[in-house]
Amino acid sequence: MQTEHTVLLVSADADFLATATEALGADQDYRLIHCRSEQEAAARLNELQAHLIICDADLIGDESANVLVSARISHPHVARLLFGSTAAAERCAGIARRAASYLYVMKPVPRDLIRLLAKRALELSELSRRHRVLSRELKISMDDDIFAQREEFSVKGGWSQFEKLVYVSAKMAELCAEARQAAQTELPVLIQGETGTGKELLARAIHFNSKRMNSPMHVQNCGGMSDDTLHSELFGHLRGAFTGAVSDRLGLFRAADGGTIFLDEISEISPSFQVSLLRFLQEGEVKPLGADRLYHADVRVIAASNRPLEKLVEKGEFRRDLYYRLKGFELHIPALRERPEDIPVLTEFFVEKYAGVVGRRVVGVTKDVLAKLEAYAFPGNVRELETEIRRMVAVAEQGGYIAARHLSPVFDRVTVRRDDAFDLPADGSSLKQMVETLEKRAVTASLQRHHWNQSRAADELGLSRVGLANKIKRYGLQNA
Ligand SMILES: Nc1ncnc2c1ncn2[C@@H]1O[C@H](COP(=O)(O)OP(=O)(O)O)[C@@H](O)[C@H]1O
Ligand SMILES: [Mg+2]
Repeated sequence: MQTEHTVLLVSADADFLATATEALGADQDYRLIHCRSEQEAAARLNELQAHLIICDADLIGDESANVLVSARISHPHVARLLFGSTAAAERCAGIARRAASYLYVMKPVPRDLIRLLAKRALELSELSRRHRVLSRELKISMDDDIFAQREEFSVKGGWSQFEKLVYVSAKMAELCAEARQAAQTELPVLIQGETGTGKELLARAIHFNSKRMNSPMHVQNCGGMSDDTLHSELFGHLRGAFTGAVSDRLGLFRAADGGTIFLDEISEISPSFQVSLLRFLQEGEVKPLGADRLYHADVRVIAASNRPLEKLVEKGEFRRDLYYRLKGFELHIPALRERPEDIPVLTEFFVEKYAGVVGRRVVGVTKDVLAKLEAYAFPGNVRELETEIRRMVAVAEQGGYIAARHLSPVFDRVTVRRDDAFDLPADGSSLKQMVETLEKRAVTASLQRHHWNQSRAADELGLSRVGLANKIKRYGLQNA
């Protein structure tokens, strides 16, 4: 390790202090700071950029106010180690658990062990730091307890996320709440919605929030597949089962055992394959082509369709019994034009995502661009928005805004309905009333544009934060 690490050594035990100082003090890598009380340690923690706290349990008075326990919350990235005398072993275990300490060890501790433990604890915290950075970059969700009801349900100001689904609209919030419920069950799920609305993304979110999350999720697109191919993809085959079957194939149902299978474009399967699938859903049994025995596969099926299955059932093109089997839960993702409130947050999300990918600095999109995007009907839904933003990020100037000139022709042609934000109140109002009406509308519009992020709205309006807060109060504005 190259960098110097600051270590707070919290102990009043002379022997222990001496050993620890010998272990770490002589080393260039460590800057040791002795703290003789917990209060002193807490104060130092706030002043210094500490990397590791080594705490002596024998010094600890009130366990609940212990510096290690509170550092877990106030300075979570500082590594924590606990030592104690054998007599206090039980107490040590309790504190170590509450403080999420790297380890706890009984004194006396040999010098070399102190060195090793310090090194390992620091390595671990460095690894988790890198993991956090990467996860943020790759947008991996780090929510362990994603089911716990948290603020993300009550959309205030910022946007919400269910796994990688980004939204602010009430429609999506409702849908994600249903999807979370579905995830907790073992029932098949049917996801319907136009192309590009995020059906596959939602299927993944359900899988990763189900108890099957540690088993695989496999995806099979059922569109444009011959029955034989589809059958051998899903159910597998034995070598020689048909010409061209040169080796055994396990099949996705068995490969996904314990996990989830996502069947995309389920509306496209033939009547005879509908029968095979129905049988699988009823019995959970898999018979590979050419095999003379049945295998069992425990798989949750999530199917998706961009053609309304119910209509196909009415027309006699899709089996009713299979339709009912598939829709243990039926989720419908609304088209993007039915939830235009999601457009700004998705835009922001994709700008950040693609600017990161191509290593470009793009400040954001201009108001004109956003207005056009918001007014567009998006037949290709979120996928179409994503593609457009990816393209614009690539052509935008380094460090600049994405402006109207970067839009592709279909978007540029969109006419934005002028809103009535600047219509004035009817005749007979005093100038003061007119100005106030105008001011109230401008402030409201800006706040809405920025999802009630007051710093951004204040920036845009050229107000101080306090100035903006005063206007909010004066006009009684509320985040609806
Ligand atoms: N709510 C969302 N938040 C972020 N990305 C989304 C969202 N909905 C869709 N996408 C993105 O749009 C693209 C299309 O989504 P996908 O799940 O493949 O749609 P579908 O299966 O309905 O055609 C993908 O790149 C996906 O990541
Ligand atoms: Mg798809």
